[in-house]
Amino acid sequence: MAPRIILIGPMGSGKTTVGLELASKFCAPFRDTDHMIVEQSGREISDIFIEDGEDAFRALEKIILRTALLEDGAVLSLGGGACLSFDAQSALRASGAFVVYLKISLSQVSSRVGFNQGRPLLMGNPRAQWQNLMNERAPIYEGLSHYICEVDSKSVDEIVSEIEIAFELRGRGDANG
Ligand code: S3P
Repeated sequence: MAPRIILIGPMGSGKTTVGLELASKFCAPFRDTDHMIVEQSGREISDIFIEDGEDAFRALEKIILRTALLEDGAVLSLGGGACLSFDAQSALRASGAFVVYLKISLSQVSSRVGFNQGRPLLMGNPRAQWQNLMNERAPIYEGLSHYICEVDSKSVDEIVSEIEIAFELRGRGDANG
């Protein structure tokens, strides 16, 4: 068995906030790979990146993702890079979960969250870094998702309702993707 809904998308797209709200609507457990990494390692994500490097972080993330995908019926939010490897993409496809891409534009993401030091991949020029990552990742997010939710200028409630409806439609075989 597997999570029922998996949220993917870039940093700042609202995966954790939306995931928590969705889980509460479904009375389902909520899991977040970043939170699981922090819990399991006892360290902040930025410290792992800076002290051990990105490869070490990705190795940890891979193990955590495997565990998270066993969480039956949960709503699961993935760190922005957790779904990119070939293995992760295969595991997500095999899970049978409803994969939702929270799509956000650069102008919205910067005004929503600002870019803080907790996001090691955005150090230097955060806006340019974010856009560079998106140029590489957007096709993967799109290819993996059953549903793309454009979150620009929508409230959390609107986003959650939209995903709930898409999820129900998929259950009836009406969703595209
Ligand atoms: C990352 C996204 C972050 C976190 C880490 C790397 C990425 O998670 O996993 O900083 O590669 O996009 P959020 O997407 O939850 O910010």
